Amino acid sequence: MNIKKLLNSLKKIKDNDQYTIEGWILANRGNEKIRFLSLNDGSTSDNLQVVIKGKNILDFKIDKINLGTSVKVSGALILTPKSPQPIELVVSTLEIINTSDDDYPIQKKETTLDFLREIPHLRHKTNLFRTIMLIRNSLVFELHKYFQENGFINVASPIITSNDCEGAGETLEVNNPNNKNDYFFKERAYLGVSGQLHAEAYANGFKKVYTFAPTFRAENSHTSRHLAEFWMVEPEVAFANLNDVILLADNLLKTIIANTLKNYPSEMKILNDLKNGTLIPTLKDFINKDLKILDYKETIKILEKNKNMFEDQNIFFGMDLSSEHEKFIAEKIVNGPVALINYPKELKAFYMYQNTDNKTVAAFDLLVPGIGELMGGSQRESRYKKLEQRLKELNIKQEPLQWYLDLRRYGYAPSSGFGIGFERLVMYVTGISNIRDVIPFPRTPGGIKM
Ligand code: 4AD
Ligand code: MG
Repeated sequence: MNIKKLLNSLKKIKDNDQYTIEGWILANRGNEKIRFLSLNDGSTSDNLQVVIKGKNILDFKIDKINLGTSVKVSGALILTPKSPQPIELVVSTLEIINTSDDDYPIQKKETTLDFLREIPHLRHKTNLFRTIMLIRNSLVFELHKYFQENGFINVASPIITSNDCEGAGETLEVNNPNNKNDYFFKERAYLGVSGQLHAEAYANGFKKVYTFAPTFRAENSHTSRHLAEFWMVEPEVAFANLNDVILLADNLLKTIIANTLKNYPSEMKILNDLKNGTLIPTLKDFINKDLKILDYKETIKILEKNKNMFEDQNIFFGMDLSSEHEKFIAEKIVNGPVALINYPKELKAFYMYQNTDNKTVAAFDLLVPGIGELMGGSQRESRYKKLEQRLKELNIKQEPLQWYLDLRRYGYAPSSGFGIGFERLVMYVTGISNIRDVIPFPRTPGGIKM
């Protein structure tokens, strides 16, 4: 039994039903006649009120129980519909598993996020981080559920690869430092920046596939939305075009967010309160609205008209949008998520389908308020010759990617897909503004704690 299950089955509980719960103590209040312990077991952000009366206080050494103590309690559950918490457990036995040393850094008083980033192994014992990680877990579950219920096959994309999918040269290399000339893999190998190319291979055969894996980028970006190790979710669908996967992205996001709101009301309330009540209405507004789709060309016109709003006022067709431009479009123009499509090909990776204007590719970036780019995707270049020519233009060696070109030669059904930056999704749903606070053990340039 755990606290979440108990709270979800209140209707079935009868006064004095007996339960045993294990967990950690967050508060120990009261006097010599009656004590109230606040117990959390990690299943929910809600705590269970544990009541100890009379002689039991001495017998069970309640005075020794400090913040962080692990305990096992058994007793009678009492329904308390009139108090702030709907149930309490009146203890008949209590076992202290371990108390916490005096220097336990998680104390009741407010601690800063900066301080907590120094102790990633303990910060999940705060109410805030427990809540964030429970929502993160819900999103993992909902993503798998969505794909599995909609006919997608999970593909284990390799972590170690011999290619740089995005071609941005931001790979972390894997090799044996003592043996520069004798690579373990007999060729240079990298931690993958994306599982897309491998997912594409499997989409041709399984039709609808997805990866959910850690990806790595040696970007030297010290921003609140970049990590060196982050998780990416990459669906890839054969027989699908750009528009099909934009619709998929929209439906998927709305479904997993709606289910998380439904299944984690206590956690979402905590996060909503932190945002002065704006988080849940914003998410619901997105769920209820049609996704806006905007052409890159139109976007440039809008930015041009508003250019005095920006630090970077040099606005022209062909420019890469900076984070301030992306946020402006999502926050001020659309006031919600927006898919920008048809970017100039120079801004995008080699594998994207070239539009008939010869300037743009069938790509989309999904931008959201507060974060900017949440996902990026495209229809893939299906024409062998075009792909070959693009590799040449970009000076990318063809030989290591020959297998990828060859896919086009064997009954190829054109495919489209996208990648969701999973931590950015967690930021969007929790309202947390720094990406380091939505992953248990963040890895950033110059930062690898534990
Ligand atoms: O836009 P990106 O680079 O697209 C791809 O990797 C494609 N291969 C995806 C595909 O079509 N299958 O990355 C996808 C998403 C971005 O939109 C962003 O949300 C996230 O991954 N992302 C990062 N998240 C955290 N830290 C970083 N350094 C990130 N770089 C990208
Ligand atoms: Mg991108």
